[in-house]
Amino acid sequence: MTVPASGDRVTPFICITIRAGIRMKILFDPAEWKGLVRPVPFLKVLTIFITNRCNARCETCFYWQELNNQSQDLTLDEYRQIQAKLPPYQDILISGGEPTLAPHLPDVIETFIHRPEQAITMPTNGIKSRQIRDMVKDICERRPNNRFVVGVSLDAIGELHDRIRGVPGNYDKAIETLRLLCELKPEHPNLRLTSLTTVFDENHKQVPELLREMARLDYVDYLTVEPLRGAPMKQGLRAPLFYELRKIQDLLHELNVGLLSRKQPLEASTMLSHIRALHREQQRMLESGRLSIDCKAGTVIGVLEHDGQVRLCEMFEPVGNLRDFGYDFAAIWNSPAAEAQRRYIKTKECSCTHCVNIGQSLPFHFWPEFERLMEKRALERRVYIEREAAGVKSC
Ligand SMILES: C[S@@+](CC[C@H](N)C(=O)[O-])C[C@H]1O[C@@H](n2cnc3c(N)ncnc32)[C@H](O)[C@@H]1O
Ligand code: SF4
Ligand code: SF4
Repeated sequence: MTVPASGDRVTPFICITIRAGIRMKILFDPAEWKGLVRPVPFLKVLTIFITNRCNARCETCFYWQELNNQSQDLTLDEYRQIQAKLPPYQDILISGGEPTLAPHLPDVIETFIHRPEQAITMPTNGIKSRQIRDMVKDICERRPNNRFVVGVSLDAIGELHDRIRGVPGNYDKAIETLRLLCELKPEHPNLRLTSLTTVFDENHKQVPELLREMARLDYVDYLTVEPLRGAPMKQGLRAPLFYELRKIQDLLHELNVGLLSRKQPLEASTMLSHIRALHREQQRMLESGRLSIDCKAGTVIGVLEHDGQVRLCEMFEPVGNLRDFGYDFAAIWNSPAAEAQRRYIKTKECSCTHCVNIGQSLPFHFWPEFERLMEKRALERRVYIEREAAGVKSC
């Protein structure tokens, strides 16, 4: 019998918890019981890099080497096969490339989103304003009960933004996109808007002005900033120093208090404290070069790429392609290659400031009970999915 490594999520049809000083878990799925037991993961966030196509050339981009190459996108039918075999998962984050250049975007979201508590998050470069508005509207209409967060990337005001992004007029187009998206909000209360600002040495002095301008325009529900990470296209760019970032994050907090308490009062305090905790960890990481918490990428966060590759973290090499594994995500997730990367992540040698992965890891650190809650919810979901598949009406 395999005892899953700590952090692996399983479907606990039979779950024996032995408490003897140390909590040991022996979890297995009788359906898989044929000599060896394969742990079933649980994903809190599934990141889908839906396309590698992009109409910009950002000097910051960590994904630049993958952009616009000829690898073949998964078809909608392939996505459906993947989803049907996917272990329990909660939220999805759509990324890329420019996600709105994927014509099947609304269909893929519809394929992966079935329960009201699932959230969808999607960044966009905001270049094709009307096309983005139409796609976002379509998704809101198809999934009206799911929180849908659309983030428009803005790294500076005007020409500096255009230069960073390699697209003349990008700033004006991104602002127009936010304006058009804001018009959708009265009809689609599930829609949330945010701005996404990557902070690095070339723009950090201009970022405060940008944030104030975004707050003045009043299109977004809240603002976000993210320090540069990974290997950007333009060599030599560097992340801000921790005290440079702290100054920006303090301003952002002040502006977010105003925006959120007015626009999303029910969510304001949870979101503000989550963002604050993330910021503190990012500052610590930039100062010391090492995370103080365990990163949960590769255990409860996973990446699926447009051509079927699976990664534990977008900064790591792929561990397999779903096209070679019969579209079975768990088979790749539990492979020796994945286990080796998981062991490496535990060493914290790769420590970074990734907002999604670190943000999602924080609750596991501050509240160990969160793991057990996740297991319980994974089981409930598995039962729900099986009842649906068996045609049992849920109440
Ligand atoms: C890779 S992009 C994909 C979505 C879309 N193309 C866009 O630019 O919004 C996702 C987000 O990562 C940000 N980003 C790009 N390079 C980054 C880097 N090296 N470090 C941190 N964030 C980065 C982008 O600005 C964007 O907000
Ligand atoms: S950051 Fe986004 S818009 Fe810019 S090059 Fe990368 S994928 Fe394209
Ligand atoms: S610390 Fe950073 S590089 Fe390492 S697994 Fe987490 S997100 Fe990826």
